[in-house]
Amino acid sequence: MRIYRETDYRAMSRRGADILAAQILLRPESVLGLATGSTPVGMYRELVEKNRRGEIDFSGVRTVNLDEYVGLSPEHEQSYRYFMQRNLFDHVNIRPGATHVPDGLAEDLAGECRRYDRLIESLGGVDLQVLGMGRNGHIGFNEPGEDFPLGTHVADLAESTVSANARFFDSRDQVPRQALSMGVRTIFQARRILLMVSGREKADAVAAAFHGPVTPKVPASVLQLHAGVILVGDSDALSGL
Ligand code: GLP
Repeated sequence: MRIYRETDYRAMSRRGADILAAQILLRPESVLGLATGSTPVGMYRELVEKNRRGEIDFSGVRTVNLDEYVGLSPEHEQSYRYFMQRNLFDHVNIRPGATHVPDGLAEDLAGECRRYDRLIESLGGVDLQVLGMGRNGHIGFNEPGEDFPLGTHVADLAESTVSANARFFDSRDQVPRQALSMGVRTIFQARRILLMVSGREKADAVAAAFHGPVTPKVPASVLQLHAGVILVGDSDALSGL
């Protein structure tokens, strides 16, 4: 595992963007696994700037997102499709048909999960998967539990995740209780994983994930077993390492 310890959020965002840019330069038709949340917003901003300056070209890139809330339409301001459009896709030269997010409105959710796993397979798998981490150690919406969910699945959000994500909604009641999320196997099949963490409130989860046992009670701990993990964090988030 490679660790980049950056001074602050801005430096973390720049480092993350450099790593994604390097991936695109090395393989212009890369399949990128992308994440939402507040952590990668600065990195997406840097990527938009790099694209504007002509330093990276998204025309061959394909993307698959980690997760989507059940019941939110792509136009809903808190849907992850909307987030990706607003923070990245609308501002770079990526082909609209080349971006994929699970369909949270699918009538047959189990079928949508299977379709999503087959889609990732048909793209040849993920070259570089971006991950953030929940304060409880979740990745995507793989919440702490008794076992690791494997493929894309319907996830029940932990109460602590509902509370953490309520800041984006008008009220806690509006936070969806379920999401479609890539599973741990789906994530693990990525050739490289870029895990980004920022802020003091992530420090305990980061320490538990990398200094504790590999356990589904801390889903991110499974990353200890992946040979291609790059951890980029600010000094607050990495203070327990
Ligand atoms: C959400 C997402 C995750 C994200 C995490 C942390 O619930 N499903 O993909 O990594 O929470 O979010 P943030 O970066 O806002 O702390």
